[in-house]
Amino acid sequence: MPQLGLGTWRSEPGKVGAAVETALKIGYRHIDCAAIYMNEPEVGEAFSRVFAQGDVAREDIFVTSKLWNNKHHPDVVEEACRQTLTDLQLEYLDLYLIHWGIAFKPSKEKEPLDETGLIMTEPVSIQDTWRAMESLVEKGLVKSIGVANFTTAMLIDLLTYAKVKPVMNQVEIHPYNAQPELVNFCLAKDVAVTAYSPLGSHGDASNKPISDAAVLSIAKAHNKTPAQVLIRWSLQRGLVVIPKSTNPDRIAENANVFDFELSDAEMEKLTKLNRNYRFVDPIEWWGLGYFN
Ligand code: A2P
Repeated sequence: MPQLGLGTWRSEPGKVGAAVETALKIGYRHIDCAAIYMNEPEVGEAFSRVFAQGDVAREDIFVTSKLWNNKHHPDVVEEACRQTLTDLQLEYLDLYLIHWGIAFKPSKEKEPLDETGLIMTEPVSIQDTWRAMESLVEKGLVKSIGVANFTTAMLIDLLTYAKVKPVMNQVEIHPYNAQPELVNFCLAKDVAVTAYSPLGSHGDASNKPISDAAVLSIAKAHNKTPAQVLIRWSLQRGLVVIPKSTNPDRIAENANVFDFELSDAEMEKLTKLNRNYRFVDPIEWWGLGYFN
C-alpha cells in the first residue's frame, strides 16, 4: 500500500475529480474515498478518464472506501459495497473499511437524530457487520478489510472473532492528536494505521498544527512547508497518511516529502505538541461521546 494517499473528505463536487486526476498524473497511487463523502461518482469519472489515457492502470493504484454507518446490517453491506464500486467505476476495492463502529438506524437521513439531537442507532453488532465484510473478501469485491475510528478496546474485541483480520485502522492523527498508545497497539497487532486529517483538517488555521510555531521553525530549518513537515512526521512514525487537497499546487506540495528527514529530536518535539485534541469529534454531529 502506498504510504501517501490523497484524501477526499470535503473535496467539493466539481473539484474532486480534477484533484484525483491531478494527483494520479503527478504520481499519487493511493486515493482514499468514502460513500458518505458524497463524491464517489465524480472520483469514478476521474479514474475512468485517467485509465483511458493509458499511463495509469487500475492495478497500479490503491483505492480505499468506507461503509457508512447506516449500512451495517449484514443484509445491506454487499449492496453498499457494490454501490461504491459502481460509483467509483471499479471492479474491486483494495481496502474497505467500517467507517465508524456504530450502526445508525436506516432512514432517508444519513445521520438520523431523535428529537433530543441524539443519533438513532440500530441493534447490529460490529461482529455481524464484520462477518458481512469478510464475505466481500471471499467474493472478490474487496482485497482487504479494516476499520476506521476504532479505539483500542474496540479493536481488542474485533480481534477475538475476526477470521479475516482487519489490516487497517484509519484514525485522526496529527501532532495535536498524536495517539501514541493506539498507534503502538495497532502496530504490535499488525494492524496498519492511516492518519486522517494529518494537517489538522479543514477550517480556521489559527489553532491548527499547520500554524504551530514549532512546526513553522522545523519547516524553515528544512526549507520545507509546515504541511510537508506534518506529513513527514506521520510517515516517519510508520503511518499511512492521506492529506486532502483540491488545490493542484498543494496536491503536488504534499507529495514532495521524500527528499528530507526529520531528526529524532525534531520528531520528539512534534510529538510533544500532543494535547489529545480532535478536530473531528462526532459529539458535534451525533450528540454522542463516541470517544469517551
Ligand atoms: P485545500 O483543499 O484548499 O488545499 P487535512 O488533510 O488535515 O484534512 O487538511 C485538509 C485541509 O488543509 C484543507 O482545508 C486543505 O485545503 C488544506 N491543505 C491541504 N494541503 C495544504 C497545504 N500544503 N498547505 C496548506 N493547506 C493545505
